[in-house]
Amino acid sequence: MPAPLLPCPTDNPDSAVIERAASVLRAGGLVAIPTETVYGLGANALDTAAVASIFTAKGRPSSDPLIVHIDTLAMAPQVVDGDFPTPARILADAYWPGPLTLVLPRHPTVPAAVASGLPLVGVRCPAHPTAQAIISAAGVPIAAPSANRFGRISPTRASHVAAELGDRIDLIVDSGPCSAGVESTVVSFDGDMAVVLRHGAIPLESIASHVAVRSIDTTSDTAIASPGHDERHYSPGIPTTTVIAGFDPSHAPPGNVRYLGYEGEEPELPAGWSFVPLGSRSDLDAIAHDLYDVLRRADVAAPTRIIAELTGEAGIGRAIDDRLSRAGSSRIARSVADL
Ligand code: TXA
Ligand code: MG
Repeated sequence: MPAPLLPCPTDNPDSAVIERAASVLRAGGLVAIPTETVYGLGANALDTAAVASIFTAKGRPSSDPLIVHIDTLAMAPQVVDGDFPTPARILADAYWPGPLTLVLPRHPTVPAAVASGLPLVGVRCPAHPTAQAIISAAGVPIAAPSANRFGRISPTRASHVAAELGDRIDLIVDSGPCSAGVESTVVSFDGDMAVVLRHGAIPLESIASHVAVRSIDTTSDTAIASPGHDERHYSPGIPTTTVIAGFDPSHAPPGNVRYLGYEGEEPELPAGWSFVPLGSRSDLDAIAHDLYDVLRRADVAAPTRIIAELTGEAGIGRAIDDRLSRAGSSRIARSVADL
């Protein structure tokens, strides 16, 4: 039986829906929960069996750790062992509640499976009122990866969750489209230096205004664990190729191809290709907001190929380009010869 999909307006949360979601979570069930980034697939983070069922429902390898969600900083001691190091405290003060995940020492009561056996755990305090209300009502920290099947496009609407996981979970709470549209920024620490493991809704440049920060370099940062970064991720079912900003596709062969590019910058396209705007490069937040919905709609339109052009921009453009390049298995074409 498909999971019930219960409406819960963001500006006027329905207390009966919140209580039902909380009781399913307390009983060890799986609930899809709206957050400001993407929908999460929630379970009680302190319940080993419930955590295991997240991995099963998603088809996710046990080596890819989960983020634990708390309602307020007061819940952090149930998840994190000891005090926050100084740069983590500065970032939590600046961005929580919000789309920032901090990777910190795991409290012994958090099952090792949550963090794929690592001594560190990702923790985040989401800003979405529905997510906060459900965590508070459940009274326990909630482990929640994005509510999609492993490797597929993340969900930013309840209908996306229903299509991906509706037959595998207990409940879907629907608060409409997510506001940010890309996942949280994941930050680890190397002494006083913050290290961005995953670009996300909070730009690197913003973090740099609070603490010293750099992006992870997976070839030299061997002491910092950065699991869960498959080259192919966030992917449509249709073969997808990523191309550089300003790509010229005009001399490519004809075909049933969807070309994802930017408003006002539509290139000359070969026969049979159609243009799908990701938005205007001058409004990157709007592109992030719609990104997964546009990718998903291009996918269900069933072309023979999807080609997605990078923004080539900094700020939130880093997160958009990270997702677009992984949708294309992290291979980036510079010219038609590379397609
Ligand atoms: O915005 C988000 O973060 C969403 C919403 C639901 O909160 N969640 C999300 O979870 O994106 P997920 O499972 O799709 O991505 C979690 C990623 C892992 O793949 C890994 O890259 C990183 O977060 N991560 C989690 N725990 C970690 C840890 N202990 N050490 C290093 N990286 C970790
Ligand atoms: Mg995910």
